[in-house]
Amino acid sequence: MRIYLDYNATCPLLDPVRAAMCAASDLIGNPSSIHSEGRAARAVLERSRAQIAALIDGGDPDGIVFTSGGTESDLAGIVGLGLAAVAAGAPARVLVLATDHPAVHGAAAVLAGRGFTIERIAVDREGRIDHDDLARRLSAGAALIAAAAVNHETGVIVDVAGLADAARAVGARLHVDAVQAAGRVALGPIAGLADTIAISAHKLGGPAGIGALWIRAGVEVAPLAPGGHQERGRRAGTENVIGAAGFAAAAIAVDLARTGLVAANAARLEAGALAIAEARVHGGGAPRAGNTVNLGFDGALGEAIVMSLDLEGVAASTGAACTSGSIQPSPVLLAMGLSRRGAREGVRFSLGPATTADEIDRVLAMLPAIVARARAAGV
Ligand SMILES: Cc1ncc(COP(=O)(O)O)c(C=O)c1O
Repeated sequence: MRIYLDYNATCPLLDPVRAAMCAASDLIGNPSSIHSEGRAARAVLERSRAQIAALIDGGDPDGIVFTSGGTESDLAGIVGLGLAAVAAGAPARVLVLATDHPAVHGAAAVLAGRGFTIERIAVDREGRIDHDDLARRLSAGAALIAAAAVNHETGVIVDVAGLADAARAVGARLHVDAVQAAGRVALGPIAGLADTIAISAHKLGGPAGIGALWIRAGVEVAPLAPGGHQERGRRAGTENVIGAAGFAAAAIAVDLARTGLVAANAARLEAGALAIAEARVHGGGAPRAGNTVNLGFDGALGEAIVMSLDLEGVAASTGAACTSGSIQPSPVLLAMGLSRRGAREGVRFSLGPATTADEIDRVLAMLPAIVARARAAGV
């Protein structure tokens, strides 16, 4: 049996999600149609919207705009807030975190194409916000701050309250990418601070290809997809009812009380791995989501470890990206101050509710030999 420890990349579909999507696949109407079939589809869509809203802010369905996933939600939130804020007189400047996901950086780049200045807030060695750097970059004002609440590679929990204070002080908007936070930490406190929030179904055990942008009541967000009147004019296009039903089933299945068990397994993995000589935990000194352990072993390339683990039946990941056939260092670890070489040594294990202590023990049993081989291989 293979061991799946890559939940931050995507999660296995949950059984209730599969059931909800099968049931919704019998619907034949377009939710915009006024006949019975259309109204039946509309009912499922709106029920799903309310169930997803419940996960975020306790239940204002009007705040939820369905999207195609986390990337589009970041794009819609960041570009939509940024353009609206500038139209209302804010300076065309946006601040993002240096360690943010490419979805956040990509959305900021779209604003750069519209004449915005992009500032990257520095982090310390543990991945925590450098508040002096934040204050410096904010001194010229900003339309928007955007950041992920939980880092996708390290699991480091970002100080959203600090960002919200900083944004409020200069009248800037705050977009929070909660794609890795949803299902791992409570979203209510984030909803109390943010103007927009991005989430994605497939990080919760729902289907890939559907997500949501949550918009605080009264906040102006310029629409990105003009056309039909769907999503109250905020995102045109026939709605993905089957995906929404699956997304809602995944949202309902979130049980934060069970994250303690996931965290205990992650702690077991971390303690066992740290028994290997010259091992380190990236972001180990910062508060982290309980499911993520990003390890480095001096002298052992992350990709070599991940490939060996795969051959032994374990799915893990490295933050390093492969561009034009060459492995690039992890931008997250580089931003945390690691050398280019050190930033190629990261191995991310991300656990989920189905992970067992026995699976962790099996990984720990094979890890020392795998690390030794990777070290011997050098480069
Ligand atoms: C923090 C973060 N934001 C955004 C995304 C993009 O989400 P999606 O794959 O649904 O487009 C991811 C996916 O890995 C992520 O980890």
